[in-house]
Amino acid sequence: MTKKIIIANWKMNPEGAKEASKLFTFGKDLSKKSKAKIIICPPFPFISLFKEKKSENFSLGAQDLFYEKKGSYTGEVSASILKSLDVSYVIVGHSERRKLGETNELIAKKVSASIKAKITPILCIGEKERDAEGAFFGFIKEEILASLKLVSKKDIKKVIIAYEPLFAISTEGKGAMDAHSIYETVIFIKKVLSDKFGESSTGVKIIYGGSVDKKNIKDVLFVGGCDGALVGKASLSPQSFEAIIKNILL
Ligand code: PGA
Repeated sequence: MTKKIIIANWKMNPEGAKEASKLFTFGKDLSKKSKAKIIICPPFPFISLFKEKKSENFSLGAQDLFYEKKGSYTGEVSASILKSLDVSYVIVGHSERRKLGETNELIAKKVSASIKAKITPILCIGEKERDAEGAFFGFIKEEILASLKLVSKKDIKKVIIAYEPLFAISTEGKGAMDAHSIYETVIFIKKVLSDKFGESSTGVKIIYGGSVDKKNIKDVLFVGGCDGALVGKASLSPQSFEAIIKNILL
């Protein structure tokens, strides 16, 4: 069985560098005894504190990037800046960025720029809500195809798809989507990919995000049929993050 991937999306946390260093060291140490691969995605300024060679079970990620190579783009960070700091993964098109105005068109350029720089894009997609008629499947399909518009057959395997239904993110206790619905959606995503990219899409990693914690991680991975999970809130506490990793008994 291939190794599961657990991605810690710290979002705009923690509040300072000292706390960030502690949390990072904890995650890195945890990876030494983990059966899963751990990828930590801190806010940009902390990344340079953690410039470290990746190990078998551990990699550094970022939460976003800009598609241009360099130049007058105040506030933006390029793929090559990230690459120079040992970043090997980057979250692209998170719903919290889409909410701030990111379009599929912009996201497609970011996906393409990260592939060119040999940084694995973690493309986030997911519906806002579900309707009884299943129109949300059309939304998911459109979002995937538009966000992957600039990706060739040859490169599709370099992308990780993170399925994150918006209503399951940061629910503060309401919990993740039920594992059967996750499974059904993962199958749908695989079908969309195979219709577009053919056999080249076999084996593209699909992960789930949205209120993942120690209680639901096994269901998400083993009932939901996911290759990993994108973890927000529960990645900010060493105890809850460790509990997630410990619950992945492969
Ligand atoms: P959550 O966030 O685990 O806090 O719901 C997941 C995400 O937004 O990636």
